[in-house]
Amino acid sequence: MQVQKLALIGFGNVGQALAKLLLKKRADIKVRYEVDFIVVAIRTGSHGRVVNPQGVDLEQALNLIETDESLDSLGEPGPEDMAAWIQATGADALFENSPVSYSDGQPALDHLRTALENDMHAITANKGPVVHGFHELKALAQSKGRKFRFESTVMDGAPVFGVTREALPAANIRAVSGVLNSTTNLILNRMESGQAFDEAVAYAQSIGIAETDPSGDIDGWDATIKLAALVTVVMGEALDIKAVARKGIREITKEDITTAKMQRKRWKLVCRAYQTDQGVEASVGPEMVGQDSPFYFVDGTTSIVQFESDVLGKLSVIEENPSPMTTAYGLLADWLNALGVARPY
Ligand SMILES: NC(=O)c1ccc[n+]([C@@H]2O[C@H](COP(=O)([O-])OP(=O)(O)OC[C@H]3O[C@@H](n4cnc5c(N)ncnc54)[C@H](OP(=O)(O)O)[C@@H]3O)[C@@H](O)[C@H]2O)c1
Repeated sequence: MQVQKLALIGFGNVGQALAKLLLKKRADIKVRYEVDFIVVAIRTGSHGRVVNPQGVDLEQALNLIETDESLDSLGEPGPEDMAAWIQATGADALFENSPVSYSDGQPALDHLRTALENDMHAITANKGPVVHGFHELKALAQSKGRKFRFESTVMDGAPVFGVTREALPAANIRAVSGVLNSTTNLILNRMESGQAFDEAVAYAQSIGIAETDPSGDIDGWDATIKLAALVTVVMGEALDIKAVARKGIREITKEDITTAKMQRKRWKLVCRAYQTDQGVEASVGPEMVGQDSPFYFVDGTTSIVQFESDVLGKLSVIEENPSPMTTAYGLLADWLNALGVARPY
C-alpha cells in the first residue's frame, strides 16, 4: 500500500469539500487502488497554517474552520515564506485552492510552480494559473515527471479537459462554446420567472451562489477566464482574457426577457471561441437562443460546454447543479489520475 502525502493551500469551500471527500472515499481508494494518504500540511490566508509530517487531523481541521478558528493548534506552522513552506511540507501532491486572480493568476501560479519544482504533482481548481501559466507549468511538470492537473477549473468536477485529453487524440478542435457561468444562468432564470435584475441578483446571493460583489459573474469575467482556459488548453493557443470580446448581463431588462419569450427563445450568457486563419476569435455575451440549441435547455446552475472538432462534429458535456463537492471530486480524480492508478479498464 503506497501512502501519499498531500498538502492543501486554501481551505475554504473547495478545500473543505476536498477534505470531506478524501475522508469519505479513503476506504474505497485503499481497496480499489492500494493507495492511502496523509494530509501533511494546510495553509489558509487568515486562518493559520500547519505542517505535520505525522498527518493533520482532518476532522479537527474542519471543526476549527467551521467555528472560524485558526489551524495553528494542529501542529508546527512551518516557514512563513510560502516557497519555503511548500518545500517544508515534503508532500507528494499540492492542492491549490486559493482565490482566483483574473489579471495575473497570482499567487496561485507561484504556488503551483514551487510545488512542481519540488517534485510534487500540482492540482488546482483555480483558473488563474491555467490562463496565465499553462504552457510553462505543463513543461515544468513534464521535465519533473509530475502532473499539472486542473479539471475543476471549468465546470467543476465534470470531465471537460479529461474528455479532450483522453478521448480526442488527433482531433482538431475548431470551436468551443458553452454556458459556463452558473450564477448568471440562475439570474436569467429568475428574471424569466418575473424578478427584476436586482431581485434576481439578491436571490443568487441569498443562497450563496453569487458573491457579495457579484461583478465577476455578472460582468462576464468568470465566463471569460473559463473560456480562456479552455482555448489555451484544448485549442492550443494561449488566449489573453483582454482579447475576448466581453459583455455581461447587466443590461438585460424585463422587456428583453419578454421579447425572447415571445420568440420562444431564452437569454443565455454564451461563451464562443472559434479558429480563424488569423487565430482564435473569442467572445462572451448575452444571446437569445432557440430550441435548436442545447443551450436553451440549460437551467439554473447547470452548465454546458460544446466542442466542435473535425472528427466528432459537435460533442457536448452537461453538468447539472454543481456544488463545492463536485469541484472536490474533480480534484480527487485529478490526483488519482496523476498517480496513474485509476485505470479500471
Ligand atoms: N466554489 C466553487 O464551487 C468553485 C468551483 C470551481 C472552482 N473554484 C475555484 O476554487 C478556488 C477556491 O474557491 P473557494 O470557493 O474555496 O474560495 P474560498 O471559500 O474563498 O476559499 C479560499 C481559501 O483560500 C485561502 N487563501 C486566501 N488567500 C490565500 C493566500 N494568499 N495563500 C493561501 N491561502 C489563501 C482562504 O483563507 P482565509 O479564508 O483564511 O482567507 C480560504 O481558505 C478559487 O480559485 C475558485 O475560483 C471554486
